[in-house]
Amino acid sequence: MVITQRRAAKIIPIAGGKGGVGKTEVCANLGVRLGQLGYDTILIDLDLGGSNLHSTLGLKNRHSGVGNFLSDKSVGFTNLIAPTPYPNLRFIPGDVLVAGTPNIVFSQKQSLIRHIEKLEADYILLDLGSGASNNVVDFFLLSNSGIVITSPHVGAVLNSYSFLKNTVFRFLMRAFAGQSEVERYLRKSIKERRPGNPVTVANVLGGMQELDPAFTAKARRYVNLLQPSIVLNLVRDGDDLNIAESLRDLTSNNLDVKLSTLGMLIHDEGLAASHRSSAPLTHSLPDSLFAVEIDRIAQKIVQSPEFPTLALATEMYSDSFELMKIESAEDLAELHEQLTRHERQDQTDAEEFIQILSQQKKQIHELKNTVRMLTMRDR
Ligand SMILES: Nc1ncnc2c1ncn2[C@@H]1O[C@H](COP(=O)(O)OP(=O)(O)O)[C@@H](O)[C@H]1O
Ligand SMILES: [Mg+2]
Repeated sequence: MVITQRRAAKIIPIAGGKGGVGKTEVCANLGVRLGQLGYDTILIDLDLGGSNLHSTLGLKNRHSGVGNFLSDKSVGFTNLIAPTPYPNLRFIPGDVLVAGTPNIVFSQKQSLIRHIEKLEADYILLDLGSGASNNVVDFFLLSNSGIVITSPHVGAVLNSYSFLKNTVFRFLMRAFAGQSEVERYLRKSIKERRPGNPVTVANVLGGMQELDPAFTAKARRYVNLLQPSIVLNLVRDGDDLNIAESLRDLTSNNLDVKLSTLGMLIHDEGLAASHRSSAPLTHSLPDSLFAVEIDRIAQKIVQSPEFPTLALATEMYSDSFELMKIESAEDLAELHEQLTRHERQDQTDAEEFIQILSQQKKQIHELKNTVRMLTMRDR
């Protein structure tokens, strides 16, 4: 079975399709807040190739990090844990001291995941890189309730949707790893892109029924386990919240995943100043709106005793040849996808997104007409 319930350390991956939406900022501030609340917390910079968690934490980059661990077998993972000046908060730096680690291979990723799962802490927050590559998604799937950060900009929301979509299908692929018939079917249905006819989880699972109804039942169980949430960052006004609801609707309609939200964060001009003073706002200005909003998110996390409700273990590849097959397929697919993914996916996902937006526009239009009619009748 793939699921381990109630692991002692709660791993919270923080992802987001797009760069610059505030993943690292949220990770740093949430970490500081969880520490202030008395929880032993470790932050891990997994944005290989773009590591900057140390500077968002206001720290000089002096310690070995994930990059050193990956490039030097003599480096022990727990030796990477560095102190911070904030209470109960430690962190593992990324790869700033070692160049050229962004493209890690399958075995390195598995090794990292195993070590992360063994860390002892109350909360382990993962600052992930941008994009929806298999590596990022696999770190995200260390928990069934990771956090996706998005800004209200259409491009960012669209990227978040693509990220969630990749996560669901990746999880399904992993659920059926080694069952070549299902793998082939899944790969084919995910690739099938007809304009105006989006790939939906319901359709994919429906088609699976023809292979074996037991497969559909298993796939449904897996999809039901996914409980991601979003944080809407960089909010400037109330209208910005509507687009988050579009994302929720699209995710529910097409992916059969119930997306929840941990809340929003305003666009706080003070953050730039905070970087000058080199400490997260939650530490330097705990009364600021941004820090209060971070606290709100932290409270939701600590008050939910099973957050993440279930943790996903990774011991699922039994035979070494099976593993080799999966590894190579994955590494090669990754290589290929790096070259072609963005344009292709952005285009089809955009079509789906436009559909939802125009539906909502229609609803707003109808609502306006109703209001107009009602007010005319009142006159
Ligand atoms: N709510 C916010 N208000 C103002 N600036 C923000 C906010 N969230 C993030 N930023 C700023 O945006 C920039 C990008 O944020 P960062 O966390 O590095 O993004 P990511 O990790 O997603 O690439 C940083 O300068 C950060 O301080
Ligand atoms: Mg970042």
